[in-house]
Amino acid sequence: METKIIDGKAFSEKLVETVAVEASKIKNAIGRPPALAVVLVGENSASKVYVRNKIERTEAAGMRSIEHRLDADTDQATLLALIEEMNNDDAVDGILVQLPLPDQIDEDAVINAVAPEKDVDGFHVVNAGLLATGQDSLVPCTPYGCLLLLRDQLGSLSGLNAVVVGRSNIVGKPMAQLLLKESCTVTIAHSRTKDLKEVCARADILVAAVGRAEMIDGDYVKPGATVIDVGINRVAAPERGEGKFRLTGDVDYDSAAAKAGAITPVPGGVGPMTIACLLRNTAVAAARRFN
Ligand code: GUN
Repeated sequence: METKIIDGKAFSEKLVETVAVEASKIKNAIGRPPALAVVLVGENSASKVYVRNKIERTEAAGMRSIEHRLDADTDQATLLALIEEMNNDDAVDGILVQLPLPDQIDEDAVINAVAPEKDVDGFHVVNAGLLATGQDSLVPCTPYGCLLLLRDQLGSLSGLNAVVVGRSNIVGKPMAQLLLKESCTVTIAHSRTKDLKEVCARADILVAAVGRAEMIDGDYVKPGATVIDVGINRVAAPERGEGKFRLTGDVDYDSAAAKAGAITPVPGGVGPMTIACLLRNTAVAAARRFN
């Protein structure tokens, strides 16, 4: 059986086109495009790359990007004051504080300071609660992007066995909620799960969000399963020269692809969907604020 390689890049480009159309309708209705404020605290090099991508893609979709860069030693009160200012600023539709934050700042306090209607990350406890109770909410971008790929690949997900490996608030837990809403039978597995391989090998849908490079190999994959790799890990690649790195997922691609019915690659799978869904959430937040 041929393994389908799920092209998240192509899918995300189509999604961004529809978001750009929405953004232009909003601009016509309210006299300005949807606006996303992005806050970066400190010098985390991966975060800098992510934030630069988010800003570029926001502007490419015809939306306004507002950037705030704060020093690594910024205290919590300063960050909370900035968030409060943006919450009250009518020209800001979406607010994203890039994580992780420096140690002196309590991430939960920051996440829950963002007005829920501007929380385009979908991390606020109100949005998490709305999702968990099946109500309309702003949904975390990475799991929502995974769900769109799964629906496109499989159509109805009803009744399928889904295993999500990883229990983070950003990916694992909201992914499980979304799959439950689709009437999957959902298992959340993690680093302490007993017989993890056997648990995963029963999955029709296997979502890997463990944060460990290439941990999920072919032995974890049921023949014909759909495998979604959320991981983005930078690993040494001495074969490319001294000091060189390559990007790889949480899935050992070659052995997993040999058994899967469909699989996302890294890069070019889930990654581009995350930003596309952030742009979508920004347009949704803007439309809801003015409707
Ligand atoms: N850091 C890693 N992923 C994310 C994300 O989706 N949103 C934010 N704000 N920070 C992140």
